[in-house]
Amino acid sequence: MCGIIGYTGQRERVHDVLLTGLAGLEYRGYDSAGIAVADESLTVHKRAGEVATLEAALPTEGVDGLAGIGHTRWSTHGPPTDANAHPHTDCDAQVAVVHNGIIENYAALRRDLEAEGHTFTSETDTEVIPHLIEAARERGAPPEAAFRDAIQQLEGSYAVAAVFPDSETVYAARHESPLVLGLGDDGHYLASDVPAFIDFTDRVVYLEDGQLAQITPSALVITDEQGAVVTPTVDRIAWDPEDAGKAGYDHYMLKEIHEQPAAIRQCLRGRVSELEGTVTIDELADLDCEGPVQFVACGTSYHAALYGARLLRERGIPAQCFLASEYAVDSIPVSAETLVVGVTQSGETADTMGALRQANRVGATTLALTNVVGSSAARECDHVMYIRAGPEIGVAATKTFASQQVALAMLASVLAGERSTAFVERVRALPDQIQQVLDESPARAVAETYADADAYFFIGRGYNAPVALEGALKLKEISYTHAEGFAAGELKHGPLALVTERTPVFALVTSGSSAAKTLGNVKEVEARGAPVVAVTDIPNEVGQAVDDVLEVPSAGPRFTPILANIQLQLVAYWIAHRLGRSIDKPRNLAKSVTVD
Ligand code: F6R
Repeated sequence: MCGIIGYTGQRERVHDVLLTGLAGLEYRGYDSAGIAVADESLTVHKRAGEVATLEAALPTEGVDGLAGIGHTRWSTHGPPTDANAHPHTDCDAQVAVVHNGIIENYAALRRDLEAEGHTFTSETDTEVIPHLIEAARERGAPPEAAFRDAIQQLEGSYAVAAVFPDSETVYAARHESPLVLGLGDDGHYLASDVPAFIDFTDRVVYLEDGQLAQITPSALVITDEQGAVVTPTVDRIAWDPEDAGKAGYDHYMLKEIHEQPAAIRQCLRGRVSELEGTVTIDELADLDCEGPVQFVACGTSYHAALYGARLLRERGIPAQCFLASEYAVDSIPVSAETLVVGVTQSGETADTMGALRQANRVGATTLALTNVVGSSAARECDHVMYIRAGPEIGVAATKTFASQQVALAMLASVLAGERSTAFVERVRALPDQIQQVLDESPARAVAETYADADAYFFIGRGYNAPVALEGALKLKEISYTHAEGFAAGELKHGPLALVTERTPVFALVTSGSSAAKTLGNVKEVEARGAPVVAVTDIPNEVGQAVDDVLEVPSAGPRFTPILANIQLQLVAYWIAHRLGRSIDKPRNLAKSVTVD
Protein backbone atom coordinates (compact mmCIF):
# COMPACT_ATOMS: atom_id res chain seq x y z
CA MET A 1 0.00 0.00 0.00
CA CYS A 2 2.08 2.78 -1.39
CA GLY A 3 1.52 6.03 -3.25
CA ILE A 4 2.58 6.80 -6.80
CA ILE A 5 2.84 10.16 -8.57
CA GLY A 6 4.00 10.90 -12.11
CA TYR A 7 4.22 14.09 -14.15
CA THR A 8 5.24 15.22 -17.60
CA GLY A 9 4.83 18.80 -18.74
CA GLN A 10 6.95 21.82 -17.93
CA ARG A 11 10.46 20.81 -16.93
CA GLU A 12 10.79 23.44 -14.19
CA ARG A 13 7.64 22.10 -12.49
CA VAL A 14 8.66 18.44 -12.27
CA HIS A 15 10.34 18.73 -8.87
CA ASP A 16 7.47 20.73 -7.34
CA VAL A 17 4.72 18.47 -8.72
CA LEU A 18 6.44 15.32 -7.48
CA LEU A 19 6.99 16.62 -3.95
CA THR A 20 3.49 18.11 -3.71
CA GLY A 21 2.13 14.80 -4.94
CA LEU A 22 4.13 12.78 -2.43
CA ALA A 23 2.94 14.99 0.42
CA GLY A 24 -0.65 14.41 -0.73
CA LEU A 25 -0.07 10.67 -0.83
CA GLU A 26 1.69 10.16 2.49
CA TYR A 27 -1.47 8.70 4.01
CA ARG A 28 -0.97 5.69 1.73
CA GLY A 29 2.44 4.88 3.14
CA TYR A 30 5.21 6.82 4.74
CA ASP A 31 8.14 4.65 5.70
CA SER A 32 10.24 5.81 2.73
CA ALA A 33 9.97 8.04 -0.30
CA GLY A 34 11.76 8.68 -3.56
CA ILE A 35 11.69 10.34 -6.97
CA ALA A 36 13.23 9.67 -10.39
CA VAL A 37 13.57 12.42 -12.97
CA ALA A 38 14.24 11.70 -16.64
CA ASP A 39 16.52 14.01 -18.59
CA GLU A 40 19.55 13.04 -20.66
CA SER A 41 20.03 10.45 -17.94
CA LEU A 42 17.94 9.32 -14.98
CA THR A 43 18.39 10.95 -11.59
CA VAL A 44 17.09 9.00 -8.59
CA HIS A 45 16.79 10.29 -5.01
CA LYS A 46 15.29 8.10 -2.28
CA ARG A 47 15.31 7.92 1.48
CA ALA A 48 13.90 5.86 4.33
CA GLY A 49 11.55 8.03 6.42
CA GLU A 50 8.89 10.58 5.65
CA VAL A 51 8.68 12.78 2.55
CA ALA A 52 10.25 15.64 4.56
CA THR A 53 13.41 13.51 4.98
CA LEU A 54 13.63 13.05 1.22
CA GLU A 55 12.98 16.73 0.61
CA ALA A 56 15.78 17.71 2.98
CA ALA A 57 18.17 15.41 1.14
CA LEU A 58 17.43 16.78 -2.36
CA PRO A 59 19.89 19.12 -4.04
CA THR A 60 18.54 22.65 -4.45
CA GLU A 61 19.12 22.51 -8.21
CA GLY A 62 19.13 19.88 -10.89
CA VAL A 63 16.01 17.92 -10.02
CA ASP A 64 13.94 19.15 -12.95
CA GLY A 65 13.71 17.40 -16.28
CA LEU A 66 11.53 15.99 -19.03
CA ALA A 67 9.34 13.81 -16.80
CA GLY A 68 9.34 12.35 -13.30
CA ILE A 69 7.86 9.71 -11.03
CA GLY A 70 7.69 9.53 -7.24
CA HIS A 71 6.67 7.08 -4.55
CA THR A 72 5.80 6.86 -0.85
CA ARG A 73 6.28 3.38 0.54
CA TRP A 74 4.68 1.17 3.17
CA SER A 75 6.88 -1.90 3.33
CA THR A 76 5.72 -5.34 2.29
CA HIS A 77 8.94 -6.97 1.00
CA GLY A 78 12.05 -5.78 2.80
CA PRO A 79 12.36 -3.29 5.66
CA PRO A 80 12.17 0.48 5.14
CA THR A 81 15.71 1.37 4.02
CA ASP A 82 17.17 3.74 1.43
CA ALA A 83 17.93 0.75 -0.80
CA ASN A 84 14.41 -0.66 -0.59
CA ALA A 85 12.80 2.73 -1.25
CA HIS A 86 11.40 3.29 -4.75
CA PRO A 87 12.12 4.15 -7.57
CA HIS A 88 14.11 1.07 -8.61
CA THR A 89 16.29 0.89 -11.68
CA ASP A 90 17.80 -1.79 -13.91
CA CYS A 91 21.54 -2.62 -13.96
CA ASP A 92 22.48 0.35 -16.19
CA ALA A 93 19.94 2.91 -14.89
CA GLN A 94 18.12 2.95 -18.23
CA VAL A 95 14.67 2.74 -16.67
CA ALA A 96 13.23 3.78 -13.27
CA VAL A 97 10.10 2.17 -11.85
CA VAL A 98 7.69 2.82 -8.99
CA HIS A 99 5.14 0.23 -7.92
CA ASN A 100 2.21 -0.19 -5.56
CA GLY A 101 0.97 -3.69 -4.76
CA ILE A 102 2.55 -7.12 -4.58
CA ILE A 103 4.25 -9.14 -7.32
CA GLU A 104 3.38 -12.68 -6.28
CA ASN A 105 5.77 -14.41 -8.71
CA TYR A 106 8.70 -12.12 -7.98
CA ALA A 107 10.88 -14.84 -6.46
CA ALA A 108 10.80 -16.96 -9.63
CA LEU A 109 11.27 -13.90 -11.87
CA ARG A 110 14.21 -12.72 -9.77
CA ARG A 111 15.84 -16.16 -9.86
CA ASP A 112 15.63 -16.24 -13.67
CA LEU A 113 16.88 -12.69 -14.05
CA GLU A 114 19.81 -13.28 -11.70
CA ALA A 115 20.66 -16.42 -13.68
CA GLU A 116 20.78 -14.21 -16.80
CA GLY A 117 23.27 -11.91 -15.04
CA HIS A 118 21.06 -9.13 -13.64
CA THR A 119 22.25 -7.65 -10.35
CA PHE A 120 19.70 -6.71 -7.71
CA THR A 121 20.33 -4.02 -5.11
CA SER A 122 17.18 -4.29 -2.96
CA GLU A 123 15.02 -6.89 -1.23
CA THR A 124 11.83 -5.68 -2.91
CA ASP A 125 9.51 -7.53 -5.23
CA THR A 126 9.37 -4.33 -7.32
CA GLU A 127 12.95 -4.50 -8.54
CA VAL A 128 12.14 -7.37 -10.91
CA ILE A 129 10.17 -4.89 -13.07
CA PRO A 130 13.06 -2.66 -14.22
CA HIS A 131 15.17 -5.75 -14.85
CA LEU A 132 12.40 -7.36 -16.91
CA ILE A 133 12.18 -4.12 -18.93
CA GLU A 134 15.95 -4.12 -19.34
CA ALA A 135 15.87 -7.72 -20.56
CA ALA A 136 13.23 -6.85 -23.17
CA ARG A 137 15.24 -3.79 -24.26
CA GLU A 138 18.29 -6.01 -24.72
CA ARG A 139 16.19 -8.16 -27.04
CA GLY A 140 15.57 -5.02 -29.13
CA ALA A 141 12.16 -3.91 -27.84
CA PRO A 142 11.46 -0.15 -27.81
CA PRO A 143 10.37 1.33 -24.43
CA GLU A 144 6.61 0.82 -24.82
CA ALA A 145 6.94 -2.78 -25.98
CA ALA A 146 9.50 -3.51 -23.24
CA PHE A 147 7.20 -2.03 -20.58
CA ARG A 148 4.25 -4.07 -21.88
CA ASP A 149 6.37 -7.22 -22.04
CA ALA A 150 7.42 -6.79 -18.40
CA ILE A 151 3.87 -6.09 -17.21
CA GLN A 152 2.57 -9.20 -18.94
CA GLN A 153 4.94 -11.35 -16.88
CA LEU A 154 3.70 -10.06 -13.52
CA GLU A 155 1.30 -11.98 -11.31
CA GLY A 156 -0.35 -10.23 -8.37
CA SER A 157 -1.63 -6.73 -7.87
CA TYR A 158 0.15 -3.69 -9.15
CA ALA A 159 0.06 -0.12 -10.24
CA VAL A 160 3.34 0.62 -11.99
CA ALA A 161 4.87 3.73 -13.54
CA ALA A 162 8.17 4.00 -15.41
CA VAL A 163 10.38 6.63 -17.03
CA PHE A 164 13.31 6.28 -19.46
CA PRO A 165 16.26 8.66 -20.07
CA ASP A 166 15.84 11.21 -22.83
CA SER A 167 12.09 10.69 -22.92
CA GLU A 168 9.20 12.83 -21.77
CA THR A 169 6.84 9.84 -21.68
CA VAL A 170 5.65 8.29 -18.42
CA TYR A 171 4.41 4.71 -18.88
CA ALA A 172 1.87 3.23 -16.48
CA ALA A 173 -0.21 0.10 -16.00
CA ARG A 174 -2.47 -1.35 -13.35
CA HIS A 175 -3.98 -4.58 -12.16
CA GLU A 176 -6.08 -4.59 -8.98
CA SER A 177 -4.32 -1.49 -7.64
CA PRO A 178 -5.60 2.06 -8.08
CA LEU A 179 -4.20 4.41 -10.71
CA VAL A 180 -5.74 7.64 -11.94
CA LEU A 181 -4.55 10.00 -14.68
CA GLY A 182 -4.87 13.81 -14.46
CA LEU A 183 -5.30 16.13 -17.44
CA GLY A 184 -3.80 19.56 -16.79
CA ASP A 185 -3.32 22.64 -18.97
CA ASP A 186 0.40 22.40 -18.37
CA GLY A 187 0.97 18.67 -18.68
CA HIS A 188 -0.30 15.30 -17.57
CA TYR A 189 -0.29 13.57 -14.20
CA LEU A 190 -0.78 10.10 -12.83
CA ALA A 191 -1.22 8.98 -9.24
CA SER A 192 -2.59 6.33 -6.92
CA ASP A 193 -5.22 8.77 -5.79
CA VAL A 194 -6.57 12.19 -6.71
CA PRO A 195 -5.26 14.21 -3.68
CA ALA A 196 -1.76 13.83 -5.18
CA PHE A 197 -2.55 16.25 -8.01
CA ILE A 198 -5.81 17.94 -6.96
CA ASP A 199 -3.83 21.21 -6.55
CA PHE A 200 -3.13 21.15 -10.28
CA THR A 201 -6.16 19.67 -12.02
CA ASP A 202 -9.63 18.29 -11.35
CA ARG A 203 -10.00 16.45 -14.71
CA VAL A 204 -9.25 12.76 -14.35
CA VAL A 205 -9.31 9.45 -16.20
CA TYR A 206 -9.49 6.21 -14.22
CA LEU A 207 -7.28 3.52 -15.67
CA GLU A 208 -8.90 0.07 -15.83
CA ASP A 209 -7.27 -3.26 -15.01
CA GLY A 210 -5.16 -4.47 -17.93
CA GLN A 211 -4.86 -1.04 -19.55
CA LEU A 212 -1.56 0.65 -20.26
CA ALA A 213 -1.17 4.43 -20.33
CA GLN A 214 1.44 6.67 -21.89
CA ILE A 215 1.41 10.32 -20.92
CA THR A 216 3.44 13.08 -22.53
CA PRO A 217 3.13 16.86 -22.05
CA SER A 218 0.55 17.03 -24.85
CA ALA A 219 -0.98 13.56 -25.12
CA LEU A 220 -2.56 10.83 -23.08
CA VAL A 221 -2.83 7.46 -24.81
CA ILE A 222 -4.51 4.44 -23.25
CA THR A 223 -4.30 1.00 -24.79
CA ASP A 224 -5.86 -2.32 -23.81
CA GLU A 225 -4.03 -5.61 -23.23
CA GLN A 226 -3.86 -6.25 -26.98
CA GLY A 227 -2.47 -2.77 -27.66
CA ALA A 228 -5.68 -1.34 -29.18
CA VAL A 229 -6.25 2.33 -28.37
CA VAL A 230 -9.07 3.00 -25.88
CA THR A 231 -11.01 6.28 -25.84
CA PRO A 232 -10.73 7.65 -22.28
CA THR A 233 -13.70 8.90 -20.26
CA VAL A 234 -12.82 12.15 -18.52
CA ASP A 235 -14.44 12.74 -15.10
CA ARG A 236 -14.38 15.95 -13.10
CA ILE A 237 -13.58 15.76 -9.38
CA ALA A 238 -15.86 17.84 -7.19
CA TRP A 239 -13.33 18.36 -4.37
CA ASP A 240 -11.46 21.64 -4.36
CA PRO A 241 -7.80 21.76 -3.24
CA GLU A 242 -8.85 23.29 0.09
CA ASP A 243 -10.61 20.02 0.90
CA ALA A 244 -7.30 18.22 0.84
CA GLY A 245 -5.64 20.59 3.35
CA LYS A 246 -5.97 20.82 7.14
CA ALA A 247 -7.97 24.06 7.01
CA GLY A 248 -6.48 25.39 10.22
CA TYR A 249 -6.87 22.27 12.39
CA ASP A 250 -3.81 20.72 14.02
CA HIS A 251 -4.58 17.36 12.49
CA TYR A 252 -6.57 16.01 9.61
CA MET A 253 -8.33 13.75 12.08
CA LEU A 254 -9.73 16.69 14.07
CA LYS A 255 -10.70 18.48 10.89
CA GLU A 256 -12.46 15.37 9.62
CA ILE A 257 -14.29 14.90 12.94
CA HIS A 258 -15.58 18.47 12.52
CA GLU A 259 -16.55 17.85 8.92
CA GLN A 260 -19.14 15.28 9.94
CA PRO A 261 -22.21 17.54 9.79
CA ALA A 262 -21.28 18.55 6.24
CA ALA A 263 -20.42 14.98 5.30
CA ILE A 264 -23.81 13.70 6.47
CA ARG A 265 -25.65 16.49 4.66
CA GLN A 266 -23.76 15.57 1.53
CA CYS A 267 -24.61 11.90 2.03
CA LEU A 268 -28.32 12.72 2.34
CA ARG A 269 -28.52 15.34 -0.41
CA GLY A 270 -31.18 14.52 -2.98
CA ARG A 271 -31.82 11.11 -1.45
CA VAL A 272 -34.55 11.67 1.13
CA SER A 273 -38.05 13.10 0.83
CA GLU A 274 -39.48 14.44 4.06
CA LEU A 275 -42.89 14.87 2.44
CA GLU A 276 -43.20 11.26 1.37
CA GLY A 277 -41.01 9.67 4.00
CA THR A 278 -39.03 7.85 1.33
CA VAL A 279 -35.39 7.31 0.47
CA THR A 280 -34.26 7.16 -3.16
CA ILE A 281 -30.76 6.14 -4.12
CA ASP A 282 -30.44 6.85 -7.84
CA GLU A 283 -27.42 4.57 -8.22
CA LEU A 284 -29.49 1.65 -6.90
CA ALA A 285 -32.54 2.16 -9.14
CA ASP A 286 -32.07 -1.24 -10.78
CA LEU A 287 -31.09 -3.15 -7.62
CA ASP A 288 -33.51 -5.99 -7.08
CA CYS A 289 -32.88 -7.67 -3.74
CA GLU A 290 -35.03 -10.32 -2.15
CA GLY A 291 -32.34 -11.01 0.46
CA PRO A 292 -30.46 -12.50 2.23
CA VAL A 293 -27.78 -9.86 2.66
CA GLN A 294 -24.15 -10.54 3.62
CA PHE A 295 -21.85 -7.69 4.61
CA VAL A 296 -18.08 -7.99 4.16
CA ALA A 297 -15.72 -5.39 5.60
CA CYS A 298 -12.64 -4.74 7.75
CA GLY A 299 -11.81 -2.58 10.75
CA THR A 300 -13.98 0.50 11.17
CA SER A 301 -15.99 -0.40 8.08
CA TYR A 302 -16.75 -3.76 9.73
CA HIS A 303 -18.16 -1.93 12.73
CA ALA A 304 -20.37 0.10 10.38
CA ALA A 305 -21.42 -3.15 8.70
CA LEU A 306 -22.40 -4.66 12.08
CA TYR A 307 -24.59 -1.62 12.60
CA GLY A 308 -26.06 -1.96 9.08
CA ALA A 309 -26.79 -5.69 9.47
CA ARG A 310 -28.77 -5.00 12.60
CA LEU A 311 -30.78 -2.30 10.82
CA LEU A 312 -31.75 -4.84 8.15
CA ARG A 313 -32.59 -7.64 10.57
CA GLU A 314 -34.80 -5.28 12.53
CA ARG A 315 -36.76 -4.73 9.31
CA GLY A 316 -37.14 -8.47 8.75
CA ILE A 317 -34.38 -8.83 6.15
CA PRO A 318 -31.95 -11.65 6.97
CA ALA A 319 -28.49 -10.11 7.21
CA GLN A 320 -25.11 -11.39 8.35
CA CYS A 321 -21.82 -9.62 8.76
CA PHE A 322 -18.39 -11.11 8.00
CA LEU A 323 -14.87 -9.92 8.52
CA ALA A 324 -13.75 -9.81 4.89
CA SER A 325 -10.57 -11.75 5.66
CA GLU A 326 -12.68 -14.61 7.06
CA TYR A 327 -15.19 -14.73 4.21
CA ALA A 328 -15.00 -17.95 2.20
CA VAL A 329 -17.77 -18.91 -0.21
CA ASP A 330 -17.04 -22.62 0.23
CA SER A 331 -18.02 -22.45 3.90
CA ILE A 332 -20.75 -19.79 3.73
CA PRO A 333 -23.95 -20.38 1.75
CA VAL A 334 -24.04 -17.83 -1.10
CA SER A 335 -26.50 -18.04 -3.99
CA ALA A 336 -27.62 -15.87 -6.90
CA GLU A 337 -30.24 -14.39 -4.55
CA THR A 338 -27.62 -13.26 -2.03
CA LEU A 339 -26.70 -9.58 -1.98
CA VAL A 340 -23.09 -9.22 -0.83
CA VAL A 341 -22.35 -5.67 0.33
CA GLY A 342 -18.71 -4.60 0.61
CA VAL A 343 -18.43 -1.71 3.06
CA THR A 344 -15.12 -0.03 2.29
CA GLN A 345 -14.13 3.62 2.57
CA SER A 346 -11.22 3.33 0.15
CA GLY A 347 -12.77 0.75 -2.13
CA GLU A 348 -9.30 -0.78 -2.37
CA THR A 349 -8.90 -2.89 0.79
CA ALA A 350 -7.43 -6.19 -0.38
CA ASP A 351 -9.36 -8.35 2.09
CA THR A 352 -12.68 -6.74 1.16
CA MET A 353 -11.90 -6.92 -2.55
CA GLY A 354 -10.99 -10.59 -2.11
CA ALA A 355 -14.37 -11.31 -0.50
CA LEU A 356 -16.27 -9.34 -3.17
CA ARG A 357 -14.42 -11.14 -5.94
CA GLN A 358 -15.35 -14.50 -4.42
CA ALA A 359 -18.99 -13.37 -4.31
CA ASN A 360 -18.80 -12.21 -7.93
CA ARG A 361 -17.33 -15.56 -8.99
CA VAL A 362 -20.21 -17.56 -7.52
CA GLY A 363 -22.84 -15.31 -9.10
CA ALA A 364 -24.06 -13.36 -6.07
CA THR A 365 -25.19 -9.77 -6.59
CA THR A 366 -22.52 -7.44 -5.25
CA LEU A 367 -22.82 -3.89 -3.99
CA ALA A 368 -19.97 -1.56 -3.01
CA LEU A 369 -20.71 0.99 -0.32
CA THR A 370 -17.68 3.21 -0.72
CA ASN A 371 -16.32 6.74 -0.57
CA VAL A 372 -14.01 6.63 -3.54
CA VAL A 373 -15.45 7.16 -6.98
CA GLY A 374 -13.83 4.90 -9.52
CA SER A 375 -12.24 2.68 -6.84
CA SER A 376 -11.78 -1.04 -7.48
CA ALA A 377 -14.86 -1.90 -5.40
CA ALA A 378 -16.95 0.67 -7.29
CA ARG A 379 -15.88 -0.73 -10.62
CA GLU A 380 -15.98 -4.43 -9.88
CA CYS A 381 -19.31 -4.68 -8.06
CA ASP A 382 -22.67 -4.97 -9.81
CA HIS A 383 -23.91 -1.92 -7.93
CA VAL A 384 -22.33 0.96 -6.06
CA MET A 385 -23.60 3.41 -3.49
CA TYR A 386 -21.34 6.32 -2.61
CA ILE A 387 -21.18 7.62 0.94
CA ARG A 388 -19.98 11.03 -0.35
CA ALA A 389 -17.83 11.87 2.71
CA GLY A 390 -15.11 13.60 0.65
CA PRO A 391 -11.40 12.82 0.99
CA GLU A 392 -10.32 11.41 4.35
CA ILE A 393 -6.62 11.88 4.94
CA GLY A 394 -6.24 10.95 8.64
CA VAL A 395 -5.45 7.25 8.85
CA ALA A 396 -8.10 6.80 11.54
CA ALA A 397 -11.51 6.69 9.89
CA THR A 398 -13.92 9.21 11.43
CA LYS A 399 -16.27 11.04 9.10
CA THR A 400 -16.40 8.07 6.79
CA PHE A 401 -17.70 5.88 9.65
CA ALA A 402 -20.56 8.28 10.35
CA SER A 403 -21.29 8.54 6.63
CA GLN A 404 -21.26 4.75 6.33
CA GLN A 405 -23.74 4.47 9.20
CA VAL A 406 -26.09 6.99 7.59
CA ALA A 407 -25.71 5.43 4.14
CA LEU A 408 -26.47 2.01 5.64
CA ALA A 409 -29.56 3.42 7.34
CA MET A 410 -30.73 4.70 3.96
CA LEU A 411 -29.89 1.40 2.30
CA ALA A 412 -31.92 -0.48 4.93
CA SER A 413 -34.87 1.82 4.30
CA VAL A 414 -34.61 1.27 0.52
CA LEU A 415 -34.27 -2.52 0.77
CA ALA A 416 -37.25 -2.69 3.12
CA GLY A 417 -39.33 -0.52 0.76
CA GLU A 418 -40.03 1.67 3.77
CA ARG A 419 -42.15 4.81 3.88
CA SER A 420 -41.54 6.62 7.16
CA THR A 421 -41.57 10.35 7.72
CA ALA A 422 -40.27 9.75 11.25
CA PHE A 423 -37.17 8.03 9.78
CA VAL A 424 -36.52 10.85 7.33
CA GLU A 425 -37.03 13.52 9.99
CA ARG A 426 -34.61 11.79 12.34
CA VAL A 427 -31.93 11.27 9.74
CA ARG A 428 -32.20 14.86 8.52
CA ALA A 429 -31.80 16.15 12.06
CA LEU A 430 -28.47 14.34 12.48
CA PRO A 431 -26.11 17.00 11.02
CA ASP A 432 -27.35 19.64 13.47
CA GLN A 433 -27.23 17.20 16.36
CA ILE A 434 -23.65 16.23 15.48
CA GLN A 435 -22.80 19.92 15.36
CA GLN A 436 -24.27 20.33 18.84
CA VAL A 437 -22.07 17.50 20.14
CA LEU A 438 -19.00 19.09 18.52
CA ASP A 439 -19.83 22.52 19.95
CA GLU A 440 -20.58 21.39 23.51
CA SER A 441 -18.46 18.30 24.09
CA PRO A 442 -16.38 18.20 27.30
CA ALA A 443 -14.36 15.34 25.77
CA ARG A 444 -11.07 17.22 26.06
CA ALA A 445 -11.44 17.63 29.81
CA VAL A 446 -12.52 13.99 30.20
CA ALA A 447 -9.50 12.93 28.16
CA GLU A 448 -7.22 14.96 30.47
CA THR A 449 -8.71 13.21 33.49
CA TYR A 450 -8.17 9.69 32.17
CA ALA A 451 -5.14 10.02 29.86
CA ASP A 452 -2.80 8.08 32.15
CA ALA A 453 -4.83 4.92 32.55
CA ASP A 454 -3.45 1.40 32.07
CA ALA A 455 -6.20 0.38 29.65
CA TYR A 456 -9.71 1.37 28.61
CA PHE A 457 -12.92 -0.56 28.13
CA PHE A 458 -15.94 0.39 26.07
CA ILE A 459 -19.33 -1.25 26.55
CA GLY A 460 -22.70 -0.96 24.87
CA ARG A 461 -25.70 -3.04 23.80
CA GLY A 462 -27.69 -3.29 20.58
CA TYR A 463 -26.77 -0.49 18.17
CA ASN A 464 -24.26 0.68 20.77
CA ALA A 465 -22.29 -2.58 20.65
CA PRO A 466 -20.53 -1.81 17.31
CA VAL A 467 -19.95 1.74 18.56
CA ALA A 468 -18.20 0.31 21.65
CA LEU A 469 -15.93 -1.71 19.32
CA GLU A 470 -15.27 1.38 17.22
CA GLY A 471 -14.56 3.57 20.27
CA ALA A 472 -11.91 1.11 21.40
CA LEU A 473 -10.37 0.73 17.93
CA LYS A 474 -10.11 4.50 17.51
CA LEU A 475 -8.44 4.95 20.87
CA LYS A 476 -5.96 2.09 20.49
CA GLU A 477 -4.89 2.99 16.97
CA ILE A 478 -4.03 6.62 17.66
CA SER A 479 -3.03 6.55 21.36
CA TYR A 480 -1.14 3.19 21.32
CA THR A 481 -2.89 2.35 24.59
CA HIS A 482 -4.70 -0.90 25.24
CA ALA A 483 -8.43 -0.54 24.67
CA GLU A 484 -11.18 -3.13 24.19
CA GLY A 485 -14.81 -2.87 23.25
CA PHE A 486 -17.48 -5.37 24.32
CA ALA A 487 -21.16 -5.99 24.02
CA ALA A 488 -21.95 -4.94 27.59
CA GLY A 489 -23.48 -8.30 28.51
CA GLU A 490 -20.22 -10.07 27.67
CA LEU A 491 -18.23 -8.24 30.31
CA LYS A 492 -19.08 -10.68 33.08
CA HIS A 493 -18.07 -13.66 30.90
CA GLY A 494 -14.36 -12.93 31.13
CA PRO A 495 -13.20 -9.35 30.54
CA LEU A 496 -14.37 -8.30 34.02
CA ALA A 497 -11.22 -9.95 35.35
CA LEU A 498 -9.22 -7.11 33.76
CA VAL A 499 -11.22 -4.30 35.34
CA THR A 500 -9.41 -2.32 38.07
CA GLU A 501 -9.36 1.23 39.40
CA ARG A 502 -6.81 1.99 36.63
CA THR A 503 -9.06 0.93 33.74
CA PRO A 504 -11.71 3.55 32.97
CA VAL A 505 -14.88 2.17 31.39
CA PHE A 506 -16.79 4.16 28.77
CA ALA A 507 -20.40 3.01 28.94
CA LEU A 508 -22.80 3.78 26.09
CA VAL A 509 -26.14 4.13 27.86
CA THR A 510 -28.65 5.61 25.44
CA SER A 511 -32.43 5.63 25.81
CA GLY A 512 -34.15 2.41 24.84
CA SER A 513 -34.94 -0.97 26.22
CA SER A 514 -31.33 -1.95 27.00
CA ALA A 515 -30.35 1.14 29.04
CA ALA A 516 -31.30 -0.44 32.37
CA LYS A 517 -29.26 -3.57 31.68
CA THR A 518 -26.21 -1.54 30.66
CA LEU A 519 -26.56 0.43 33.89
CA GLY A 520 -26.41 -2.93 35.65
CA ASN A 521 -23.07 -3.57 33.95
CA VAL A 522 -21.91 -0.12 35.05
CA LYS A 523 -22.56 -1.19 38.64
CA GLU A 524 -20.47 -4.35 38.10
CA VAL A 525 -17.40 -2.41 36.98
CA GLU A 526 -17.82 0.24 39.65
CA ALA A 527 -17.82 -2.49 42.27
CA ARG A 528 -14.30 -3.37 41.01
CA GLY A 529 -13.20 0.26 41.45
CA ALA A 530 -13.23 1.32 37.80
CA PRO A 531 -14.09 4.93 36.99
CA VAL A 532 -17.03 5.12 34.59
CA VAL A 533 -17.74 7.70 31.87
CA ALA A 534 -21.27 7.45 30.51
CA VAL A 535 -22.07 8.56 26.98
CA THR A 536 -25.76 9.19 27.22
CA ASP A 537 -28.85 11.10 26.12
CA ILE A 538 -30.49 10.50 29.53
CA PRO A 539 -28.06 12.25 31.91
CA ASN A 540 -30.71 12.66 34.59
CA GLU A 541 -31.12 8.91 34.90
CA VAL A 542 -27.47 8.00 34.47
CA GLY A 543 -25.46 10.91 35.83
CA GLN A 544 -25.73 9.96 39.52
CA ALA A 545 -24.35 6.51 38.87
CA VAL A 546 -21.13 7.48 37.07
CA ASP A 547 -18.01 9.62 37.43
CA ASP A 548 -18.32 11.66 34.24
CA VAL A 549 -20.93 12.24 31.56
CA LEU A 550 -20.58 12.91 27.85
CA GLU A 551 -24.05 14.00 26.87
CA VAL A 552 -25.58 13.63 23.42
CA PRO A 553 -28.97 14.73 22.07
CA SER A 554 -31.66 12.07 21.70
CA ALA A 555 -32.05 10.79 18.16
CA GLY A 556 -33.95 7.56 18.82
CA PRO A 557 -32.49 4.12 19.54
CA ARG A 558 -31.04 3.68 16.03
CA PHE A 559 -29.36 7.06 15.65
CA THR A 560 -28.33 8.18 19.13
CA PRO A 561 -25.38 5.72 18.92
CA ILE A 562 -24.11 7.67 15.86
CA LEU A 563 -23.97 10.76 18.08
CA ALA A 564 -22.38 8.82 20.95
CA ASN A 565 -19.59 7.76 18.61
CA ILE A 566 -18.70 11.41 17.92
CA GLN A 567 -17.94 11.82 21.65
CA LEU A 568 -15.70 8.74 21.57
CA GLN A 569 -13.82 10.06 18.51
CA LEU A 570 -13.11 13.26 20.43
CA VAL A 571 -11.99 11.36 23.53
CA ALA A 572 -9.61 9.26 21.44
CA TYR A 573 -8.25 12.35 19.69
CA TRP A 574 -7.63 14.30 22.91
CA ILE A 575 -6.05 11.35 24.74
CA ALA A 576 -3.70 10.79 21.78
CA HIS A 577 -3.03 14.54 21.65
CA ARG A 578 -2.19 14.60 25.36
CA LEU A 579 0.18 11.65 24.87
CA GLY A 580 1.86 13.42 21.93
CA ARG A 581 1.14 10.68 19.40
CA SER A 582 1.42 10.86 15.64
CA ILE A 583 -2.33 11.23 15.26
CA ASP A 584 -2.75 11.43 11.50
CA LYS A 585 -0.19 8.75 10.79
CA PRO A 586 -0.16 6.22 13.63
CA ARG A 587 2.76 3.83 13.67
CA ASN A 588 2.45 0.61 11.65
CA LEU A 589 -0.82 1.67 10.01
CA ALA A 590 -1.75 2.96 6.58
CA LYS A 591 -4.92 4.44 5.16
CA SER A 592 -5.47 2.04 2.34
CA VAL A 593 -4.60 -1.59 3.10
CA THR A 594 -4.05 -3.11 -0.33
CA VAL A 595 -2.33 -6.30 0.87
CA ASP A 596 -4.11 -9.31 2.33
C1 F6R B 1 -9.49 2.41 11.36
C2 F6R B 1 -9.47 2.24 9.92
C3 F6R B 1 -9.37 0.85 9.37
C4 F6R B 1 -10.21 0.74 8.09
C5 F6R B 1 -9.98 -0.64 7.44
C6 F6R B 1 -10.86 -0.81 6.21
O1 F6R B 1 -9.61 3.76 11.69
O2 F6R B 1 -9.51 3.17 9.18
O3 F6R B 1 -9.76 -0.10 10.31
O4 F6R B 1 -11.56 0.91 8.41
O5 F6R B 1 -8.63 -0.77 7.07
O6 F6R B 1 -10.62 0.18 5.26
P1 F6R B 1 -11.67 0.50 4.12
O7 F6R B 1 -12.89 1.06 4.74
O8 F6R B 1 -10.97 1.48 3.23
O9 F6R B 1 -11.96 -0.79 3.42
